[in-house]
Amino acid sequence: MGRLEGKCALITGAARGIGLAFAKAYLSEGAKVAIADINFAAAEKSANALGEGAFAIEMDVTKQESIDAGVAKAIAAMGRIDILINNAALFTASPIVDIDRKDYDRVFAVNFSGTLFTLQAVARHMVARGGGGKIINMASQAGRRGEALVAVYCATKAAVISLTQSAGLDLIKHGINVNAIAPGVVDGEHWDGVDAFFAKHENKAPGQKKKEVGEAVPFGRMGTPADLTGMAIFLASAESDYVVSQTYNVDGGQWMS
Ligand SMILES: NC(=O)c1ccc[n+]([C@@H]2O[C@H](COP(=O)([O-])OP(=O)(O)OC[C@H]3O[C@@H](n4cnc5c(N)ncnc54)[C@H](O)[C@@H]3O)[C@@H](O)[C@H]2O)c1
Repeated sequence: MGRLEGKCALITGAARGIGLAFAKAYLSEGAKVAIADINFAAAEKSANALGEGAFAIEMDVTKQESIDAGVAKAIAAMGRIDILINNAALFTASPIVDIDRKDYDRVFAVNFSGTLFTLQAVARHMVARGGGGKIINMASQAGRRGEALVAVYCATKAAVISLTQSAGLDLIKHGINVNAIAPGVVDGEHWDGVDAFFAKHENKAPGQKKKEVGEAVPFGRMGTPADLTGMAIFLASAESDYVVSQTYNVDGGQWMS
């Protein structure tokens, strides 16, 4: 029997990358999963590939109507939501003197406001339904300290760590655990974009930044989405019932806190 047998999970930004790996892992542990993404075509493709128990949901976490409609659709498809992973995020990087206000607004809207208001919508459902729930926010090692060229993204992830602490303290009285995962550097399409940025700004050959960050990880390589699934299953299962407001580093030894 799977560790999430009979549970229903909503994962934002799950059409690809880490969110998709979480969806696959949850399905294999016996859960149903709503794959919510702004890119509905990609979400549908991923849900079809995963098969029975996976549902594609169109959701833009920057728009309240879209969050509300997406949560309602997920409940209609699965019956309820027991687990939420706030995974959708955008990366951005820029020297301080070049930070663009529109880009700042967009990245905060997805990474922080999107996390807060999706958490709120699902928490309202969990409180009204009773019986508790599990909410997992995707933070980052970037939220543990600032980085030259990455001020805005780092700030959004520091805000996610802070929100995890406050929401966890507020919601535990309803039996809702709120915790977060802070990955280090995880290979995939997201990092292809990061590599391209550093190739431009640090005059590196394509692939060079990835190679350097991988070699700098104490474990000896970049992470893969599969490296994170164990923590995501733990935080969604009854084994983590006494864990409240924590952010766990799953980063090959990059950060200690
Ligand atoms: N990849 C890494 O190295 C790394 C490191 C630390 C933390 N993280 C975090 O892990 C999470 C997943 O990262 P990833 O590498 O899989 O990212 P990714 O870019 O591959 O996937 C993000 C997904 O979010 C979706 N999305 C974007 N805007 C959205 C919106 N407004 N509404 C709904 N969905 C939206 C995208 O369509 C995409 O499918 C993110 O929160 C990221 O910040 C990643």
